[in-house]
This record gives sequence, structure tokens and C-alpha cells, in this order.
Amino acid sequence: SELHSFLQQLPKCEHHLHLEGALTPQLLFSLAAKNHIQLPKDDPAYASPEALVERYRKFDSLDDFLGYYYIGMSVLLHAEDFEALAWDYFQHAANDGVLHAEVFFDPQAHTSRRVSYDVVHSGFQRARQRAQAELGISSELILCFLRHLPPADAMSTFEQDAVLASFGAGGVVGIGLDSSEKPFPPELFQAVYSKAEAKGLKLTAHAGEEGPAEYIRSALDTLKVERIDHGVRLIQDPALLERVAAKNIMLTICPMSNVFLKGVSSVAELPLREFIDAGVRFSINSDDPAYFGNHYILSNYCAVQEAFHLTTDEWIQICNGSIRGSWCSEGRKEELL
Ligand code: ADE
Ligand code: ZN
Repeated sequence: SELHSFLQQLPKCEHHLHLEGALTPQLLFSLAAKNHIQLPKDDPAYASPEALVERYRKFDSLDDFLGYYYIGMSVLLHAEDFEALAWDYFQHAANDGVLHAEVFFDPQAHTSRRVSYDVVHSGFQRARQRAQAELGISSELILCFLRHLPPADAMSTFEQDAVLASFGAGGVVGIGLDSSEKPFPPELFQAVYSKAEAKGLKLTAHAGEEGPAEYIRSALDTLKVERIDHGVRLIQDPALLERVAAKNIMLTICPMSNVFLKGVSSVAELPLREFIDAGVRFSINSDDPAYFGNHYILSNYCAVQEAFHLTTDEWIQICNGSIRGSWCSEGRKEELL
């Protein structure tokens, strides 16, 4: 669009990016070869990176995507693999004008494959340090629990020594909840969220992506989150929408993800105009860009512009809200504003 260079130079914060979702088919195949990982022989999608790209264009739901997402990450074994993955993402982010990134990772998807938490965390830490030093991108890590696994599994992950040691400044700043949304309502994870809150961690959860607005309410009431990841179904509950606006709860919206996973048939169908008019704060994010047509954050900004024709003032409001809703230091926010 004609506003491409304006959108490129906006000071962006990304709040909804799964590092494992930045695994491109190219990197997936090269790590599979390096690590001698056998990709599924019975699925023609794994015939080549090109075949995989084609298959990714045909997801019919969140769960259809998640099947490929969990197979994809089976190629990640060593700290250098996790570092390469995150570094690949940070380079895209820098090109797109991201100054600050709060990135998710799914430890249970690795520890369940006997890859230790320290391997995962140390690889990501090295990429983060390099992104800060070479690209000027500040970042935070958000540890997500997998909601399709039992809540007791989340709790035992949380209580591992290596995990506890990673909490705090420079490490993991917050927790999230992701994976298959229905039928796993937020309240199942109240115990682990309450422990995380007691440790001073920031709290967010995926809710209202495929699940009902009621899951958003439960995330706010039972998990005490200060953000909602996706949250597009908030539009179905006007009273809750008012409450989210009044409390300045930020939604981390992922437009191209919603299109690829068939939550909406086009970006124009997202209730972004209604959110703006109701004063609901939201940021625009890429979710799993390597699985969703390589649409990194700028591509999501452009898609929103093409669908909604926002004014430059509205864009500046979105970016300012994203900075204010970030989990960086107040000093860093001042630099970004
Ligand atoms: N894990 C990675 N991407 C996700 C998404 N969009 N929703 C739920 N879980 C996820
Ligand atoms: Zn997500």
C-alpha cells in the first residue's frame, strides 16, 4: 500500500509471537538434516519445503495448524537450534521496524521430547542478547503452558528448578496459556497462575481465538491476566467489551493468523473498528509467521491498513498503546514513545 513506508517506520512492539512459530520450512528441513530427525513419511506435506508451504496454506482450524506446529518443532534439539530459530525471527522483526518484542515459547513441547529447559532457554537467551547488541531490539520472554495437557503438568513444569531460576529481570517476565483452546477453559489453570502472580510474574492467556467470550471473562476473573491474546470474540459480549476498555486490558490481535486458521474469512471481518471506537487497546502481531504465509508483523500492519484505511493519527494511537501496554521498563517505554 502507499502507506507502506509510514507503517514500516512506526515504532513497533510485538506482543504475540511464538518463537516456535517462526520456524520456516527452510530452517525446519535444514535442522532435520543436521539433527537426523525423520519427518513423517506418511504425510506428503513433508516431501519438500515447497510442499510444506503449500500445505500450510490450507489449514482449516487452530488444531489442524497445531498438528504441524508440534511436528515442526521436533527438529529443535540443541541450544544452537533454538538460537538460530530466534535469531531468524529477530532479523525479520528488525526489518519490519520492531523495537521491542515480547516472545512466547512452549517449554512443555520440548521437555516432553527430553530436550531440557536449560537448552531451550539458553539458546533463546543468546539470540536475545544478540538482537539487543546488533539490532537494538529489546525483548522479553513469556513462558506458555499448553492447555491441552493436564494442569498438573503445567504446575510441575513451573516448579522445576531450572524454570524457577529463569524467572525475573533478563529472563522470563511472564506466563501465558496456549495450544488447543476448546475445550480447555482458562479456570483449569488457576493454581499455576496464582503461583506465578505471587512470584511477581506478568500474566496473559490466549482466549477468544476459537473459544467463546466467556473464556475471556474467565481469564480475567480466575487467572487475573492483564492482557488477552487474540480476544477477537470479545465482540460477542458488549458488557465485557466495556469492562476490557475501562480496565485498559490490551488484546494482542493477530490478523493474518485469524485468516489462515479460518477464524475470519478476511482481515476486514475483524472487529477492529468497533474496538477502536469502544476504546479497547490492542496491538497487531504475527503469531506464527512462518506457518502463516511468512506474514511477519509489518505484513499484518499492511493488511489492517488495506482493510480499515486507518488515519495516521489512529496508527500513532495504536503504536502508543502498544508501547504503554508493553512489559518493558518505564525507562524503555519513554525511549520508545
Ligand atoms: N500456539 C501457537 N500459536 C497458537 C495460537 N494462535 N493459538 C493457540 N496456541 C498457539
Ligand atoms: Zn498465539
